[in-house]
Amino acid sequence: MDITQYLRELKKNSLERNIPNITENNARFITDRIQKQSPSHILEIGTANGYSTLCFAQILRQIWKWDITTIEHTPDMQNEACEHFHACWVESFITPLLWDALTLIPTLPDTYFDFVFIDAMKKSYLDYYLLIQPKLVSPAMIIVDDVKKFRYKMENFYNYLSEKKIEYTLYEVDDDDATMIILL
Ligand SMILES: C[S@@+](CC[C@H](N)C(=O)[O-])C[C@H]1O[C@@H](n2cnc3c(N)ncnc32)[C@H](O)[C@@H]1O
Repeated sequence: MDITQYLRELKKNSLERNIPNITENNARFITDRIQKQSPSHILEIGTANGYSTLCFAQILRQIWKWDITTIEHTPDMQNEACEHFHACWVESFITPLLWDALTLIPTLPDTYFDFVFIDAMKKSYLDYYLLIQPKLVSPAMIIVDDVKKFRYKMENFYNYLSEKKIEYTLYEVDDDDATMIILL
């Protein structure tokens, strides 16, 4: 299956339906980081219809051992994502979980994930960040989406990072918004 062509069509379809996938520029930016980091175990918070998950899978297919756990709380979105994973023959590497991430994250294995992509409810970013801490194995990369336009929804997250002196870098990948990277 040519995932590149599939992703192009999926993106077009998502735009028509107002599904808030990452932009193509941001997908390239994040997959570039994945390529450099070569993570084994990715956690994604916010699957939607699986566009970003498939972008990651496309790159990870070149790595021998990898898996993605992706969380979504809307059944229709998750069903659609599973159809896309199946169509692209990557479903055996992806664990789609259907539930509220705030409830699910504590049930995930400890010291397992080396790459986390946070792209769900903006006002819960600090909660996601705190909940994933025991789940990380060092060195880990955390990528947080939409951190400029929606900053007003995540002031507590920014305050926490500055109180704890946690270093982060913001990348204005395109006009859409900025993306944050934290290395732990
Ligand atoms: C911005 S979209 C994700 C887009 C996706 N990462 C992509 O780029 O293709 C955010 C998704 O997170 C889901 N979501 C929001 N809060 C959630 C929560 N607490 N638990 C699980 N999913 C959540 C929403 O239903 C929505 O589909």
